[in-house]
Amino acid sequence: MSNSNIVWHQHHITKQQHSIQKQQKPCLLWFTGLSGSGKSTIANALESQLYAMKKHTYLLDGDNVRHSLNKDLGFSDADRIENIRRIGEVSKLFVDAGLIVISAFISPFLSDRQIVRDLFQEGEFIEVFIDTPLKICEQRDPKGFYQKARKGEIPNFTGISSPYEAPKYPEIHISTSHQSVEDSVSQILEYLRQRGFLNA
Ligand code: ADX
Repeated sequence: MSNSNIVWHQHHITKQQHSIQKQQKPCLLWFTGLSGSGKSTIANALESQLYAMKKHTYLLDGDNVRHSLNKDLGFSDADRIENIRRIGEVSKLFVDAGLIVISAFISPFLSDRQIVRDLFQEGEFIEVFIDTPLKICEQRDPKGFYQKARKGEIPNFTGISSPYEAPKYPEIHISTSHQSVEDSVSQILEYLRQRGFLNA
């Protein structure tokens, strides 16, 4: 729903000014992958490293955001679409504030991730595919959800009774079966370094 009685107000302090003040180029690192793939683990390790480098960050994580901003949403296709739409918009605000934003959500649908990508300028949206085979996620089953989903106790569970559409061309591809958490973080930091995100 759009409202023609609302006008956009131009802020005095721009994204560029926020960026210069923070001595970094803001961006959104969009982690996608199955439940139990390691998104939160790698995202937290990455944020800790960036913090130690005195970078300004914010981590948005599925499990936490679903307790707050999105606690009214479930796991139907429509609710997941709305979940990702809101996270995309919130991430955009944080990127405007000059932050390096890390978002860790299953975000199973290609079209929703594309909608978020389209909110950002060229190069600002960095898709990070946390690629862990379903078999391994199921073996790990840190929350016991896969076991419940197999018994039919959790409807629309991603990978079991709801699809996961893997990214076709992610900017960063992490294969957790072959890489440690440390290696994964190094790979992401190298990407950011090479493209000038770590200094404005
Ligand atoms: S998303 O699909 O809408 O992007 P999101 O990342 O916010 O999902 O939340 C996923 C987390 O919610 C999972 O890690 C898991 O702990 C929990 N969860 C509960 N029900 C489901 C379900 N049906 N499918 C996937 N994850 C679920």
